[in-house]
Amino acid sequence: MKILVTGGAGYIGSHACLELLEAGYEVIVIDNLSNSKEESLTRVQELTDKELKFYKADLLDREALDKVFKEQAIDAVMHFAGLKAVGESVSMPLGYYHNNITGTLMLCEAMKKHGVRDLVFSSSATVYGDPDRVPITEDFPLRATNPYGQTKLMIEQILQDLHVADDSFNIAILRYFNPIGAHKSGRIGEDPNGIPNNLVPYITQVASGKMRELRVFGDDYPTPDGTGVRDYIHVVDLVLGHLKALDKLQTNPGVVIYNLGTGQGYSVLEMVDAFSKVVGKPIPYKVTDRRQGDIPTCFADPTKAKKELSWTATMGLTQMCEDSWRWQSNNPDGY
Ligand code: NAD
Ligand code: UFG
Repeated sequence: MKILVTGGAGYIGSHACLELLEAGYEVIVIDNLSNSKEESLTRVQELTDKELKFYKADLLDREALDKVFKEQAIDAVMHFAGLKAVGESVSMPLGYYHNNITGTLMLCEAMKKHGVRDLVFSSSATVYGDPDRVPITEDFPLRATNPYGQTKLMIEQILQDLHVADDSFNIAILRYFNPIGAHKSGRIGEDPNGIPNNLVPYITQVASGKMRELRVFGDDYPTPDGTGVRDYIHVVDLVLGHLKALDKLQTNPGVVIYNLGTGQGYSVLEMVDAFSKVVGKPIPYKVTDRRQGDIPTCFADPTKAKKELSWTATMGLTQMCEDSWRWQSNNPDGY
């Protein structure tokens, strides 16, 4: 089977390419490299000793997209391409709406035109906003608190409407909780541009001496130690959920929605502690004000994915920290 991976050079996409190749799929990647480097794909091919086909192209470029679908007999699409920085989305809403939504529309049009009907989409736990309770099940009310989250909500709606109009489309909407970690080789991983927004890349950069100290955004939340609680999931577990979703699409399920999380929440201070142990030295931090828009607690109920996809996350916190740290220490300046 030939799988088109949009955003395949990025953090999660590159791990997906690797697992797809390992599982015997043929892989075609489209990425405009706006937030990634082609080196990730070179390394994926080295690690698997298999080849993939890379098109440096933008989803907004209709002709380029058409060319890919014409040249390749694509069976299914995994759609990772998108801009993902919450803060940036607040200051650049038009850019985010255009890239994420128009990009997805172009992709769906190309799929329709070329008779490709199976799609796995990267959504996010951000669509639950600040949930009334935890753990979060897929039927919770949806709300977005920033333009990035709005793009995910809108795309989910667009994909459902697409299926209503043409029920030959099969679509898996996967709501990720907090992906961290890296492939065990330490050769591919998350390579943020500039100062990291997210907790784990920030911690690993503090541990490696690139950043002086971590700022803990608030310790007065209604959580056991006052710091924010999240459901961190190993990126390899996460992408294995995509392979299971791909299998599910072969049963013509229509639109299916799954949380991909572990079901276990950890606080910021628990993460700091876990990393200190793995790194073998304390991670310096100071508590600062809350970050605007953050919620106290977010973790998944992953039961539905377990039942319907036979998927469950298997890697624990120590392994996530070890793998994040191996990537960071072997690649202090990223790719
Ligand atoms: P990433 O930035 O590493 O990867 C996204 C890739 O898409 C990049 O390689 C980028 O160059 C490419 N891209 C962006 N716009 C494009 C366009 N118009 N045309 C072609 N390529 C384009 O991000 P990631 O962490 O790998 O995230 C992948 C997906 O998962 C995104 O849709 C993101 O919103 C979603 N997601 C990520 C997280 C997370 O914490 N990392 C959480 C929930 C959901
Ligand atoms: N945090 C700090 N200091 C930092 C960075 C983060 O204390 O320097 C705290 C945050 O306040 C939060 C926790 O660490 O309590 C996790 O923050 P992240 O920025 O790593 O992750 P978020 O849960 O805020 O958001 C991430 C993605 C979103 C996505 C969401 C759910 O950035 O795009 O996970 O998937 F929607």
